[in-house]
Amino acid sequence: MKKIHIRSFGCQMNKLDTALVSSALKDAGFSLTNGAKEADVVLINTCSVREHAEQRVLSHLGHLKHIKENKPDMVVGVIGCMAQRLGAQLLEHNAVDIVCGPNQIPQIGELVTEVLQEKKKRLAVTEKIRTASPDSEALEEFESAYGIADKAIPSQVFVRAMRGCNKFCTYCIVPYVRGPEVSRPPEAIIEQIKKLADNGVKLVTLLGQAVNLYQYKAGDKTYCLADLLYLASQVKGIEWIRFLTSYPQEEFYDEILSAMAELPKVCNYLHMPAQSGSDKILKAMNRNYTAGQYLAMLDRARAIVPGIAIAGDFMVGFPGETEEDFDATVELVKEARYKNCFVFKYSPRPGTRADKRMEDDISLEVKRTRNIELLAVQEKISGELSKEFLNKEVKVLVEGLSKKPHLDCAGGRNLPQLVGRTAEDWIVVFNGQEDLAGEFAKVKITRTSPLTLFGELAS
Ligand code: 5AD
Ligand code: SF4
Repeated sequence: MKKIHIRSFGCQMNKLDTALVSSALKDAGFSLTNGAKEADVVLINTCSVREHAEQRVLSHLGHLKHIKENKPDMVVGVIGCMAQRLGAQLLEHNAVDIVCGPNQIPQIGELVTEVLQEKKKRLAVTEKIRTASPDSEALEEFESAYGIADKAIPSQVFVRAMRGCNKFCTYCIVPYVRGPEVSRPPEAIIEQIKKLADNGVKLVTLLGQAVNLYQYKAGDKTYCLADLLYLASQVKGIEWIRFLTSYPQEEFYDEILSAMAELPKVCNYLHMPAQSGSDKILKAMNRNYTAGQYLAMLDRARAIVPGIAIAGDFMVGFPGETEEDFDATVELVKEARYKNCFVFKYSPRPGTRADKRMEDDISLEVKRTRNIELLAVQEKISGELSKEFLNKEVKVLVEGLSKKPHLDCAGGRNLPQLVGRTAEDWIVVFNGQEDLAGEFAKVKITRTSPLTLFGELAS
């Protein structure tokens, strides 16, 4: 039995693809291994969203080239966004035998088998990525067949609601590597969720680049995300439902939030990136809303769903971002009162409009300073919000051992440190039996930090 090692970089979409590929390969008779050194095949699922993500992959490939010097028969495959972006160029790398884009993952088993047998390099990417995808049917079949088995975290899985993206934010590579927006049929999604529930899954997270714009026409009816939430809520066994990521747009917005308010299983959590607080920069990013409109949407979310936790993404150092523009971003973050937000330094991506038409004119030093400043503003807010949980009891879905469970074994060897999340996505750390992983638990919060709540099992 050949051994495969898969390493994954990038977003939740990539994690989901990695899970699908792992199940498909297991099904095809391969065994999975944690180390690259003992593997016959190493697959790297890659991300292109920032240059840094690609550099990490390239340095990993350098390392694999080294291993291959003593193990010339080892097969190395690059899958995912970087495979689609670089294609044949990546195949020229000494270490690489397979390059397989995100739309070609249904072929991965075949590609690996062929390369193991024939020792010839293989390329599988979409030539014209923006034309309607001929791979759609194969992807749908692949997704239904393998979207059930692999649970990296017990009791929870990602389920794709839509592929691709049509938003064309000027900085973003996604539309060029994942292709046009395609919403999956609601019955396929619900069927998948039912099977997952039968397999013990309690939390599903519906995924899409702009998942709130999910739209599927079937006869006279057009299904939107709110419809999906209603349908998913009816599935017995599923207890929590989340969705990621939302694009700030009015269409369907109130409907989705009303569904959240109405349906107890839908978690009160919204991840809706603003990217900037400057109207000038938002326009240059092709984001189609102003800071004022965005904040009004957050107000409405809080009115419709009291207690909703909101998370955001921001980019600093976009071309032309002045101190005033950055100040506007700081102001927006202060007003938005996010639970948490992610801050990224702008990184020009080849082929995007920002890269072609705008100069990357903000120095790395300024980007770094702004990144640190914005995170500090958010940290203060997160710290204030997390303090409100002190002495309260929260319900969490336990994920498993915390990253460093040995550091705080207050409860002794049998009660290691565990980590779980609340419905609103707050991270909670506490001591408990390892077999609580995948179960719900009640935790009384005794200490807080900006991003983490600490507590004790309540029952
Ligand atoms: N440079 C830096 N950050 C980016 N993101 C997307 N494209 C880029 C880029 N070119 C960020 C956005 C997005 C998150 C997933 O990554 O903030 O929301
Ligand atoms: Fe995910 Fe985008 Fe990175 Fe691809 S490029 S892995 S879609 S974040």
